[in-house]
This record gives sequence, C-alpha cells and structure tokens, in this order.
Amino acid sequence: MIGWPISHSLSPRLHGFWLKQFNIDGVYLPIPIRPNDFEAKIKSLSQNGFAGFNVTVPHKETAYKFVDTLTETAREIGAVNTIVCHEGGCLAGDNTDAFGFISNIKTTVPSWKPDLSSALVLGAGGAARAVVSALRAEGVDEIRICNRTRERAEELEAHFGNLNVVDWDTRNDACEGVGLLVNTTTLGMVGKPPLEINIDQLCDDAVVNDIVYAPLETDLLKSAKILGYQPVDGIGMLLHQARPGFEAWFGQRPEVTDELCAHVLAGLGHS
Ligand code: ATR
Repeated sequence: MIGWPISHSLSPRLHGFWLKQFNIDGVYLPIPIRPNDFEAKIKSLSQNGFAGFNVTVPHKETAYKFVDTLTETAREIGAVNTIVCHEGGCLAGDNTDAFGFISNIKTTVPSWKPDLSSALVLGAGGAARAVVSALRAEGVDEIRICNRTRERAEELEAHFGNLNVVDWDTRNDACEGVGLLVNTTTLGMVGKPPLEINIDQLCDDAVVNDIVYAPLETDLLKSAKILGYQPVDGIGMLLHQARPGFEAWFGQRPEVTDELCAHVLAGLGHS
C-alpha cells in the first residue's frame, strides 16, 4: 500500500488476514511515499520483486498517468488504486472502488433492484466517480449528483454524461423518488462536520449507504434505520475493493466474511 500519510491504513490488516488464511508466504506492507517521489519509488519497488501495489491518497491520479495499461473502469474513473506488476516490468493499473461499492450494496441488500428507481449521490470527488461508474454499469436509469461545489458535480456530468446535477441546498427535496442514496462526502466522519440532510422523502424501501466507516454507524445510517430504510455501512466497500488486487497478486480468490470484518474493525478500535 502506497500513500502519504499511510500509518492509519487498514489495508495491511485486511490483506494480512487473507495471507494467513491462505497460508501464503507473502507480506503486504504500508509504504509511505511523499507526493513528488511516486514515479522514482514505484519504479524501483516494481523491479524488486513486488507483485503489485494498492495506491491511495494522494497518488491515485499520478498512478493513472504512470502505469503501462489501464482497465476500462480505471479509465472511466480517471484514477488507479490497484497496480499489478507483470513479467518484463509492465505495470497494469485498475480501479477496484466501483467493484467494492457495488459488491457491498449487493451482498448487504440482495433485493436491491438497480432499474426500479433513481439514485442520489452526495459528493463529487474520486469516490463519487467510482460510485457513478458502478451505478452506470448496473443500469441505474437516473442518477442525481449533489455537491456543495456545483462546478465539481458539473465536471462529473461532463465526464459521464446524462447525470442530473442538483444544488446542495436542495438535497432534501432531491431525495424524492430515490431508491438508493449514497454519501461519498467526508461529512459525518470523525472530526468532520455533520451531514445535515432530511431523508424522509426517499422511496419506502430505499437503500442508504454511507461510505464513511469511522464511525461505522453514522448519523445518516441511524436516521435511515429509524425511518425503516435499509442502511449499508461503509466498511464493506473497503473490504470488497481489496478482493481483485489480492487475487491478482496472490492467485487466491478471497471472500468477505464476518470474521474478516471484525478483524479489520478491531484496527479501528471496535471489538
Ligand atoms: P474523495 O476523492 O475521497 O471523494 P474529495 O475529493 O476530498 O474526496 O471529496 C470530498 C467530498 O466531500 C467533496 O464532494 C466535498 O465537496 P466540495 O467538492 O464542495 O469540496 C465534500 N465536502 C467536504 N466537506 C464538506 C462540507 N463541509 N460541506 C459539504 N460538502 C463537503
């Protein structure tokens, strides 16, 4: 895992669990790399026997420009979070956040039907791009995008096309007719301001997903529960997005289990 800073990353704990489970003689290391050192460092690491890397803030866009090949999803999202080192030194870039997001929704709420209602995405950063990419691939008809800075939402619209940009101030009303609400902003996270939204206009059986996982049960998810919606917390996205990388590097297909979830959450101080 490459990032800056990196000390709070849960990924070494997550991959460490699977390495032990499959009895694989390998390691997954947190490697701090300063913003300007990415290209030189990744080159030398890839020549030194690493099977691949996860890439996090602030390197995802640099990695996108640096790798030799890109998957369709990475291209669509415009960022790389997973690199596979192939023989001969070729670096293949992927983005597994969209997979992580949609796998989390589908395994938590198997009854969710993408083609029955609209989706509302709060935020317009990298995470929102991954969510929109996944929703598009699932065939969600209408996607509303709502961000404090409207221009960023419009950039997403220009990139993906056919998104409905709605003003941040109208987010309560934008919930009407929505069967899936996703918070990709940092609001509600420990140390950040709360997410202020009234969600009582969502469809009756709406799925409410917060990709924030610290705290695990955000105020948004608490409200969703009280109003009878289907809450989906954010830790599942982190766990699922790790699966394709692990499989590519170590040749085993890992699963997300309650035991894994408890192990990773213990790294956040939950027991
Ligand atoms: P990431 O790439 O992980 O999605 P990001 O690009 O920093 O992270 O995006 C964070 C999101 O949280 C943005 O949509 C941001 O809104 P702006 O584009 O207006 O900055 C949103 N966000 C952060 N603080 C916010 C606040 N106080 N009120 C509303 N939205 C906020």
